[in-house]
Amino acid sequence: MPHRTPDDLLRQNKDWAATKLEKDLEFFTSLEKVQKPDYLWIGCSDSRVPANEIVGLKSGEMFVHRNIANVVPHSDLNCLSVIQFAVEVLGVSHIIVAGHYGCGDIKAAMENTDHGEIDNWLAYIKDTYRQHYQEISAISGADRQADRLCELNVMVQVRNVAKTSVIQNAWRRGKKLTVHGWIYRLSDGILHDLGVDVDATEQLHEVFRIESD
Ligand code: CO
Repeated sequence: MPHRTPDDLLRQNKDWAATKLEKDLEFFTSLEKVQKPDYLWIGCSDSRVPANEIVGLKSGEMFVHRNIANVVPHSDLNCLSVIQFAVEVLGVSHIIVAGHYGCGDIKAAMENTDHGEIDNWLAYIKDTYRQHYQEISAISGADRQADRLCELNVMVQVRNVAKTSVIQNAWRRGKKLTVHGWIYRLSDGILHDLGVDVDATEQLHEVFRIESD
């Protein structure tokens, strides 16, 4: 890939803006007035998984939160604020937790190496690894083991989104809202639905249900 300087990026931005205007004179002015996306994407920060691009959505169509290994910790103020804003202010109907195979952060979580500060974040993934240790250990090949943990991590994070008070309150208000778990393959660019949708409090273990004020 060619090396690009920050000045190149600023120049490319001007080209991009000009191209948008060529196609639609009101592209920016109409977007400036309103943001009404149907989707919230919670994905990995990995530069090879550009959220909007891989699902063919344009500016204004998807609210995006990305962090290392698409984790939704129960008390992460950053992630919780994104979810609340997306649901209560923007009114999204779908939340997609999107992992990807070959995630370097998932692989790192399976190592016993000292990675510094990030090990505290990777501990969320280690919890899932520990929980499914037998199943994962029975798989042959380190890459396939890591890929299974990538899937399991998505499944756990889907449930974590559903467990939040924000989502359960929305369901209680009668809002239609589905949390999806998808996984992306870097080698072919295809997203796979893991079939773990959650759209009601009843799908959660009773321990996590928040049912009345
Ligand atoms: Co990743």
